Amino acid sequence: MLGLKQFISPSATTRLSRNAFTSGSLSSLKPFSISHLSKFLSKPKLGSKCFSSSALSLDASQRVPFRSLVSSCLRKSIDQSVFGIQNIKFQSSQASSGIEGSNKTDESKNSSEGIERCPPVVGYWMLAMGAMVFGIVVVGGLTRLTESGLSIVEWNLIKGIKPPTSEEEWEREFEKYKQFPEFKKLNSLMTLEEFKFIFFMEWLHRLWGRAIGVAFVVPAVYFFSRGRLTPKVAKRSLGLAGLIGFQGGLGWYMVKSGLDHQLMEDPSAVPRVSQYRLASHLGTAFLLYVGFMLTGFEILSDNKLKRSPQKGFLAPITDPRFRAFRGHAIGTTVLVFITALSGAFVAGLDAGLVYNTFPNMGDSLIPPKEELWSPLYSSNRKLIEDDKETPIGMWRNIFDNPTTVQFNHRILAMTTLSSIVALYFLSRRLRLPRNARIGTNVMAGAGLAQVSLGISTLIYLVPVPLAAAHQSGSLALLTSGLYLVHTLRRPLPLQAPEESTQPKK
Ligand code: HEM
Repeated sequence: MLGLKQFISPSATTRLSRNAFTSGSLSSLKPFSISHLSKFLSKPKLGSKCFSSSALSLDASQRVPFRSLVSSCLRKSIDQSVFGIQNIKFQSSQASSGIEGSNKTDESKNSSEGIERCPPVVGYWMLAMGAMVFGIVVVGGLTRLTESGLSIVEWNLIKGIKPPTSEEEWEREFEKYKQFPEFKKLNSLMTLEEFKFIFFMEWLHRLWGRAIGVAFVVPAVYFFSRGRLTPKVAKRSLGLAGLIGFQGGLGWYMVKSGLDHQLMEDPSAVPRVSQYRLASHLGTAFLLYVGFMLTGFEILSDNKLKRSPQKGFLAPITDPRFRAFRGHAIGTTVLVFITALSGAFVAGLDAGLVYNTFPNMGDSLIPPKEELWSPLYSSNRKLIEDDKETPIGMWRNIFDNPTTVQFNHRILAMTTLSSIVALYFLSRRLRLPRNARIGTNVMAGAGLAQVSLGISTLIYLVPVPLAAAHQSGSLALLTSGLYLVHTLRRPLPLQAPEESTQPKK
């Protein structure tokens, strides 16, 4: 521990672990009190992860320039001792996975024990999967906005790949579509050429969904068989593969709700998919996106940290304000997710068309109570007809009443924006790592843009380009939140050197 000895006198004992730091840059650090450091390092939770070989003796009264202490210590000492040991193990994992030569003994060892880090290619693949999900959300939004979603009235995983090619096949597909309520009630004057357009939109959406399945499962099997997935990433990949399959089934379940022949019996019923199923479908797409992006970010930054540890993990996570900021960032990102889900209810009910002014809804900020909380949307219609008691199931207004649904979306959007703005101002008062600062600034910009797009979509009566941009904006905003949360993530604990160096029996 050359670097440390230059700075620290041997008295009060404590240990230095990588857990003392989290992602950040050297330049963001102030001179640091040793008593502060030793208090933090002596926490029992961290003790188990500390390295005896990097044990420090600290004088509690001494103040040292923390930046020099840590950079020197990291470059000269931890890099050589702690990371050296870590690297030896990592390199053997790489060798086994075919990155650096091939080593039979290591390969068998790693295939049974699992590697410590996935190679960067796995991270890039995860991010590419995220990009594909982003793309399908945009296409899905356009499919809905052009009212194309109910044009293909059956679901066949393999046969459905091929679109109609001859005029005869097109006629056949059109005839099938004519049997369903959407054509009968809304599109009875539709021509074959118009039908071809809506069919193409839905076909593209489904084809993209299949492509996502293949682009995930095939490389996943390959990476797994070559031992390039850590047990954690392997388990997560299995979950994500299951979620892709579930999403395919959910998509068809959603479409079926718009093909129901009972819609013909109620003259006031509009043939469209259930808003509950639409929100679930969008929510699952967002979950997949979150899974791919976070996994990709983690893998890439773990690799970056391994390449240049001195760059990667210096920020005072002992500072309670920093931890509060991290909690705030996670909460805000969850709020973005919930607001987006509420947006799917607005879209599903065409609730963007009921009030087209902002900030007022009609004459005031809040619409009349009887309109927001109407027995008409209660699940117990019998009681309404008898006019006897207050009907039960009034909560259904939250999801079924277009006025309430729009109102909720506004409230959630404004709460989310306030939280983003608060995060921005809080970040000004903290010495954050550079990438976290970038994440906060981008999130603030994306939040403002998203709200502006939402208001414009509303005022201009939901034109397709604005509504599509608003939907994509929600994913862009979510991405900035995920990135920010990722930059504030604690680094993975290193294994104790004793464990790593002991030959396995
Ligand atoms: C953090 C802010 C916001 C987020 C994350 C968000 C997210 C979303 C999402 C995901 C949708 C569903 C789009 C679709 O499925 O096609 C949506 C729809 C909608 N949002 Fe927002 N929104 C936000 C703010 C706003 C604001 C402030 C307004 C206006 C007051 C607004 C008005 C609308 C309207 C009218 C729709 C329906 C568009 C359609 O029918 O396609 N949004 N929103």
